[in-house]
Amino acid sequence: MRIDWGIAPVSEWAVDVLVFFGIEGSFALLPGFRRWLDGQGQWITRSAALKDFQGKFQQTAVIYGPADSKVPRVLVAGLGSEEKFDVEKLQGATSAALRKCRDLGLNRVGISLQGLQGLPVPIDSALKEALVGGLLGLHRFDELKTREIQSSEVPESLVILDEGEPEQSIRAVPRAAEAIASGICLARDLVSSPANRVTPGFMVETARGLAQRYGFRLEVIDAERAAEFGMGSFTAVAQGSREPAYMIVLERFSSIPEKTAPLVLVGKGITFDTGGISLKNKDRMDVMKQDMAGAAAVLGVFETLGRMNAGGHVVGIMPCTENMPDGKAYKPGDVVKSLSGLTVEVISTDAEGRMVLCDALTYALDFQPAAIVDIATLTAACIVAFGNEVAAVMGNREALTKSILDIGSRVGEKYWPLPLWDFYFDHLKSDIADFKNVADRSAGAILGGIFLKQFVPASIPWAHIDIAGTAWTEKELGTAPRGATGFGVRTMVELACTLPVLGIE
Ligand code: BES
Ligand code: ZN
Ligand code: ZN
Repeated sequence: MRIDWGIAPVSEWAVDVLVFFGIEGSFALLPGFRRWLDGQGQWITRSAALKDFQGKFQQTAVIYGPADSKVPRVLVAGLGSEEKFDVEKLQGATSAALRKCRDLGLNRVGISLQGLQGLPVPIDSALKEALVGGLLGLHRFDELKTREIQSSEVPESLVILDEGEPEQSIRAVPRAAEAIASGICLARDLVSSPANRVTPGFMVETARGLAQRYGFRLEVIDAERAAEFGMGSFTAVAQGSREPAYMIVLERFSSIPEKTAPLVLVGKGITFDTGGISLKNKDRMDVMKQDMAGAAAVLGVFETLGRMNAGGHVVGIMPCTENMPDGKAYKPGDVVKSLSGLTVEVISTDAEGRMVLCDALTYALDFQPAAIVDIATLTAACIVAFGNEVAAVMGNREALTKSILDIGSRVGEKYWPLPLWDFYFDHLKSDIADFKNVADRSAGAILGGIFLKQFVPASIPWAHIDIAGTAWTEKELGTAPRGATGFGVRTMVELACTLPVLGIE
């Protein structure tokens, strides 16, 4: 769906359908709608469809006018009650509205900028969230379906209608929204794609595509070179798979000439997690194709930053491999030497995420980062703690953790902190190595964080995001069908664009 501006007097607005939003209760509609109504005939206010509309979240109603009218239909979309309003409601309502337009086969959809006024968010964010929500709501992963008729793209275009030229800051919103949606959709498609397609090699090709399109530096470290570097923990996981493993590094340089310290984003890229020798239960093992969602989110961030040409100096490090049982696979009880020099006793080969991330974190230090954020589908314990709606965030700087929470609430991604108090480390003590990779079942998500913390010097601000619950959804969400969500892309994009002003040291 293309997004265009339509600047013209109200009387000249011409679209197949014009979308307005309504709040539940307070006569259900926002001020912009009432102002627009004043210039119309009675067809809308008299319509029974409008009377049936209460403004409930994701409720829609279509009101038909005279067929020869320049605007023959109005679609009203519910935001729910005022007290419960947040950006997810606006994203979800726009998604519901555009899905309805698609069902009706309407091609040219209008949305009035005025119609977004009166919400408790600035108008430029309201427009951005509505557009991102609308674009995400329409996105489907159907590349692998051959029997369903590939319908042409409906709606073809979304026109933002306004009477006068909008300010520059608002003018730029559609391109930013498109860039954000495209990054999230890239992440979703990679995660939804099965593991026989999205192999570590496929992740490399995706990164190469981004590097070529947007001029990023790409470095691909294969398993042989990783072993030479001393990445013994990453290569231990990789050695059980026939699929070549890669540590992928993407670097976007800032347009500011002085070399600034980068934000380093590290994403877990296990393209399939069987558990290895500590083999997982067969039930729903298929969803373990999602175990590269962290790396996919990092690639999504680079797609967005590339398209927006924004974001400062950012490095992405993605350790990509399968985790398989095999004659050559690493085993419970093995001790491996990580790139940091620290030795790890492998208690469970299914805790492979931390094994590949720790070497990526050590490699990140070479870039003298301003901050490191890692993102991973790390622990089932995170799902036990927070369910599928909320991601866990932990780290060594309260300011960074708080920034992630704040950004999340602004863009519609929910995070909650977990503590990384030092006494938790006692659980990981090993008799024969520096520490173990897992303990018993207690404090599972925290121990993932505690393990990773061993590899980050206290002088570097670092946060770890566990997206085991949020990367995938079994139920359809407001802006995502069943499957991959692309969770984390938005927060990391925002972080990449604002890190210097957040004052995290
Ligand atoms: N990839 C899994 C975690 C996971 C589970 C992600 C469900 C998404 C959905 C991870 O590698 C894993 O297996 N973790 C183990 C850790 C345990 C052995 C300490 C887990 O959570 O059971
Ligand atoms: Zn695992
Ligand atoms: Zn895993």
